[in-house]
Amino acid sequence: MLKIAPSLLAADFSKLAEEVKKVEDAGADLLHIDVMDGHFVPNLSMGPMIIESLRNKTKLPFDVHLMVEEPARFVKPYADAGADIISVHIECFCGLYRTIKSIKELGKKAGIVLNPPTPISSIEYLLNDLDMILIMSVDPGFGGQSFIPYVLPKISEARKIIDEHKLKIDLSVDGGVNEKSAPLIVEAGANVLVMGSALFREKDVKSLIQKYKNLSLDIRNQK
Ligand code: DX5
Ligand code: ZN
Repeated sequence: MLKIAPSLLAADFSKLAEEVKKVEDAGADLLHIDVMDGHFVPNLSMGPMIIESLRNKTKLPFDVHLMVEEPARFVKPYADAGADIISVHIECFCGLYRTIKSIKELGKKAGIVLNPPTPISSIEYLLNDLDMILIMSVDPGFGGQSFIPYVLPKISEARKIIDEHKLKIDLSVDGGVNEKSAPLIVEAGANVLVMGSALFREKDVKSLIQKYKNLSLDIRNQK
Protein backbone atom coordinates (compact mmCIF):
# COMPACT_ATOMS: atom_id res chain seq x y z
CA MET A 1 0.00 0.00 0.00
CA LEU A 2 1.00 3.54 -0.64
CA LYS A 3 2.64 5.50 2.18
CA ILE A 4 1.58 9.06 2.98
CA ALA A 5 4.14 11.51 4.37
CA PRO A 6 2.49 14.77 5.47
CA SER A 7 4.90 17.68 5.07
CA LEU A 8 5.10 19.64 8.31
CA LEU A 9 5.95 22.80 6.39
CA ALA A 10 2.25 23.22 5.63
CA ALA A 11 1.14 22.74 9.26
CA ASP A 12 0.08 25.50 11.64
CA PHE A 13 3.40 26.31 13.34
CA SER A 14 1.66 27.79 16.37
CA LYS A 15 0.42 24.29 17.30
CA LEU A 16 2.87 21.84 15.77
CA ALA A 17 2.38 19.01 18.29
CA GLU A 18 -1.40 19.03 17.69
CA GLU A 19 -0.88 19.03 13.95
CA VAL A 20 1.44 16.04 14.18
CA LYS A 21 -1.06 14.16 16.35
CA LYS A 22 -3.81 14.97 13.86
CA VAL A 23 -1.97 13.39 10.91
CA GLU A 24 -0.76 10.44 12.98
CA ASP A 25 -4.32 9.66 14.12
CA ALA A 26 -5.47 10.07 10.53
CA GLY A 27 -3.19 7.23 9.36
CA ALA A 28 -0.05 8.95 8.08
CA ASP A 29 2.98 6.68 7.67
CA LEU A 30 5.88 9.14 7.95
CA LEU A 31 6.30 12.74 8.98
CA HIS A 32 8.14 14.70 6.27
CA ILE A 33 10.29 17.45 7.76
CA ASP A 34 11.75 20.10 5.46
CA VAL A 35 15.03 21.63 6.57
CA MET A 36 16.13 24.77 4.70
CA ASP A 37 19.27 26.85 5.21
CA GLY A 38 18.54 30.02 3.23
CA HIS A 39 21.41 29.17 0.83
CA PHE A 40 20.59 25.96 -1.00
CA VAL A 41 17.01 27.26 -1.18
CA PRO A 42 15.82 30.83 -0.59
CA ASN A 43 13.97 30.03 2.64
CA LEU A 44 14.59 29.01 6.25
CA SER A 45 12.65 26.42 8.21
CA MET A 46 13.13 23.99 11.06
CA GLY A 47 16.25 23.51 13.18
CA PRO A 48 17.04 20.34 15.15
CA MET A 49 15.53 21.79 18.35
CA ILE A 50 12.09 21.76 16.76
CA ILE A 51 12.51 18.14 15.68
CA GLU A 52 13.71 17.18 19.14
CA SER A 53 10.73 18.86 20.79
CA LEU A 54 8.35 16.80 18.63
CA ARG A 55 10.16 13.48 19.04
CA ASN A 56 8.31 12.30 22.13
CA LYS A 57 4.95 13.53 20.83
CA THR A 58 4.58 10.91 18.10
CA LYS A 59 5.61 7.43 17.00
CA LEU A 60 5.71 8.44 13.33
CA PRO A 61 9.12 7.98 11.69
CA PHE A 62 10.73 11.35 10.92
CA ASP A 63 11.59 11.68 7.23
CA VAL A 64 14.04 14.60 7.21
CA HIS A 65 14.61 16.34 3.87
CA LEU A 66 17.80 18.41 4.05
CA MET A 67 17.66 21.34 1.62
CA VAL A 68 21.02 22.67 2.72
CA GLU A 69 24.28 23.43 0.97
CA GLU A 70 26.45 21.37 3.30
CA PRO A 71 24.40 18.41 4.58
CA ALA A 72 27.47 16.75 6.11
CA ARG A 73 27.37 19.42 8.85
CA PHE A 74 23.77 18.66 9.76
CA VAL A 75 23.50 14.87 9.59
CA LYS A 76 24.52 14.30 13.23
CA PRO A 77 22.45 17.10 14.80
CA TYR A 78 19.30 15.88 13.03
CA ALA A 79 20.07 12.21 13.75
CA ASP A 80 20.53 13.09 17.44
CA ALA A 81 17.30 15.10 17.38
CA GLY A 82 15.33 12.01 16.32
CA ALA A 83 15.42 11.71 12.52
CA ASP A 84 14.78 8.19 11.19
CA ILE A 85 15.42 8.83 7.50
CA ILE A 86 17.78 11.57 6.36
CA SER A 87 17.75 12.59 2.70
CA VAL A 88 20.31 14.82 1.03
CA HIS A 89 20.24 16.51 -2.35
CA ILE A 90 22.55 15.18 -5.04
CA GLU A 91 23.00 18.82 -6.10
CA CYS A 92 24.59 19.83 -2.75
CA PHE A 93 28.21 20.84 -2.28
CA CYS A 94 29.41 17.80 -0.42
CA GLY A 95 31.10 14.45 -0.52
CA LEU A 96 27.87 12.67 -1.21
CA TYR A 97 29.08 9.10 -0.79
CA ARG A 98 30.75 10.01 2.50
CA THR A 99 27.60 11.77 3.68
CA ILE A 100 25.38 8.78 2.88
CA LYS A 101 27.84 6.51 4.72
CA SER A 102 27.76 8.76 7.78
CA ILE A 103 23.94 8.62 7.86
CA LYS A 104 24.08 4.82 7.82
CA GLU A 105 26.83 4.72 10.45
CA LEU A 106 24.53 6.67 12.76
CA GLY A 107 21.97 3.87 12.33
CA LYS A 108 19.59 5.92 10.19
CA LYS A 109 18.04 5.31 6.79
CA ALA A 110 19.55 7.30 3.94
CA GLY A 111 17.88 8.97 0.99
CA ILE A 112 18.93 10.95 -2.05
CA VAL A 113 16.85 13.82 -3.40
CA LEU A 114 16.81 14.87 -7.04
CA ASN A 115 15.68 18.29 -8.22
CA PRO A 116 13.36 18.34 -11.25
CA PRO A 117 16.10 18.69 -13.92
CA THR A 118 18.50 16.11 -12.38
CA PRO A 119 18.56 12.76 -14.21
CA ILE A 120 18.17 9.47 -12.38
CA SER A 121 21.42 8.21 -13.93
CA SER A 122 23.31 10.59 -11.59
CA ILE A 123 22.58 8.36 -8.58
CA GLU A 124 23.16 4.92 -10.09
CA TYR A 125 26.49 4.49 -8.31
CA LEU A 126 24.77 4.99 -4.94
CA LEU A 127 21.78 2.69 -5.35
CA ASN A 128 23.01 -0.12 -3.13
CA ASP A 129 23.39 2.26 -0.18
CA LEU A 130 19.98 3.92 -0.38
CA ASP A 131 16.73 3.41 1.49
CA MET A 132 14.85 6.16 -0.30
CA ILE A 133 14.86 8.12 -3.55
CA LEU A 134 12.99 11.40 -3.23
CA ILE A 135 12.04 12.99 -6.52
CA MET A 136 11.23 16.69 -6.35
CA SER A 137 8.28 17.63 -8.50
CA VAL A 138 8.68 21.37 -7.80
CA ASP A 139 11.77 23.53 -7.35
CA PRO A 140 12.56 23.07 -3.65
CA GLY A 141 12.12 25.84 -1.10
CA PHE A 142 8.41 26.48 -0.73
CA GLY A 143 5.15 24.65 -0.23
CA GLY A 144 2.06 25.26 -2.32
CA GLN A 145 3.71 25.20 -5.77
CA SER A 146 2.34 23.50 -8.88
CA PHE A 147 3.39 19.98 -9.83
CA ILE A 148 5.87 19.85 -12.73
CA PRO A 149 4.61 17.02 -15.00
CA TYR A 150 7.90 16.45 -16.82
CA VAL A 151 9.19 14.54 -13.78
CA LEU A 152 6.72 11.70 -14.47
CA PRO A 153 9.02 9.78 -16.88
CA LYS A 154 11.80 10.08 -14.29
CA ILE A 155 9.57 8.48 -11.65
CA SER A 156 8.86 5.58 -14.05
CA GLU A 157 12.55 5.25 -14.81
CA ALA A 158 13.40 5.10 -11.09
CA ARG A 159 10.67 2.48 -10.49
CA LYS A 160 12.06 0.36 -13.34
CA ILE A 161 15.59 0.46 -11.91
CA ILE A 162 14.39 -0.36 -8.36
CA ASP A 163 12.33 -3.33 -9.58
CA GLU A 164 14.92 -4.64 -12.02
CA HIS A 165 17.61 -4.69 -9.33
CA LYS A 166 15.13 -5.88 -6.65
CA LEU A 167 16.18 -3.00 -4.41
CA LYS A 168 14.43 -2.20 -1.14
CA ILE A 169 14.15 1.51 -1.83
CA ASP A 170 11.12 3.69 -1.21
CA LEU A 171 10.30 5.94 -4.15
CA SER A 172 8.91 9.18 -2.83
CA VAL A 173 7.62 12.26 -4.66
CA ASP A 174 7.58 15.73 -3.13
CA GLY A 175 5.90 18.91 -4.37
CA GLY A 176 2.45 19.79 -5.67
CA VAL A 177 0.98 16.39 -4.83
CA ASN A 178 -2.80 16.75 -4.95
CA GLU A 179 -5.94 15.13 -6.29
CA LYS A 180 -4.94 15.81 -9.87
CA SER A 181 -1.26 14.86 -9.77
CA ALA A 182 -1.33 11.95 -7.28
CA PRO A 183 -2.91 9.35 -9.62
CA LEU A 184 -0.29 10.16 -12.29
CA ILE A 185 2.53 9.92 -9.74
CA VAL A 186 1.31 6.58 -8.42
CA GLU A 187 0.77 5.21 -11.90
CA ALA A 188 4.36 6.20 -12.71
CA GLY A 189 5.51 4.01 -9.79
CA ALA A 190 5.95 6.09 -6.62
CA ASN A 191 5.06 4.37 -3.33
CA VAL A 192 5.40 7.39 -1.01
CA LEU A 193 3.53 10.66 -1.46
CA VAL A 194 4.77 13.74 0.39
CA MET A 195 1.81 16.02 0.89
CA GLY A 196 1.85 19.54 2.29
CA SER A 197 -0.78 22.09 1.40
CA ALA A 198 -3.25 19.64 -0.16
CA LEU A 199 -3.39 17.73 3.11
CA PHE A 200 -3.11 20.24 5.95
CA ARG A 201 -5.75 22.58 4.51
CA GLU A 202 -8.33 19.74 4.53
CA LYS A 203 -10.80 19.38 7.40
CA ASP A 204 -11.25 15.62 7.12
CA VAL A 205 -7.61 14.53 6.94
CA LYS A 206 -8.47 10.92 7.79
CA SER A 207 -10.71 10.34 4.76
CA LEU A 208 -8.25 12.17 2.58
CA ILE A 209 -5.31 9.99 3.67
CA GLN A 210 -7.40 6.85 3.23
CA LYS A 211 -8.43 7.96 -0.24
CA TYR A 212 -4.81 8.55 -1.28
CA LYS A 213 -3.64 5.27 0.25
CA ASN A 214 -6.13 3.36 -1.88
CA LEU A 215 -4.92 5.03 -5.07
CA SER A 216 -2.59 2.21 -6.09
CA LEU A 217 -5.42 -0.33 -5.72
CA ASP A 218 -7.80 1.88 -7.72
CA ILE A 219 -5.26 2.28 -10.49
CA ARG A 220 -4.55 -1.46 -10.61
CA ASN A 221 -8.29 -2.21 -10.77
CA GLN A 222 -8.74 0.15 -13.70
CA LYS A 223 -6.18 -1.72 -15.79
C1 DX5 B 1 9.30 21.97 -0.88
C2 DX5 B 1 9.24 20.92 0.19
C3 DX5 B 1 7.97 20.17 0.25
C4 DX5 B 1 6.74 20.99 0.49
C5 DX5 B 1 5.63 20.33 -0.25
O1 DX5 B 1 10.58 22.44 -1.00
O2 DX5 B 1 10.28 19.98 0.03
O3 DX5 B 1 8.04 19.08 1.16
O4 DX5 B 1 6.38 21.11 1.85
O5 DX5 B 1 4.52 21.12 -0.14
P1 DX5 B 1 3.30 21.02 -1.15
O6 DX5 B 1 2.70 19.64 -0.98
O7 DX5 B 1 2.39 22.11 -0.70
O8 DX5 B 1 3.83 21.23 -2.53
ZN1 ZN C 1 10.33 18.12 1.22
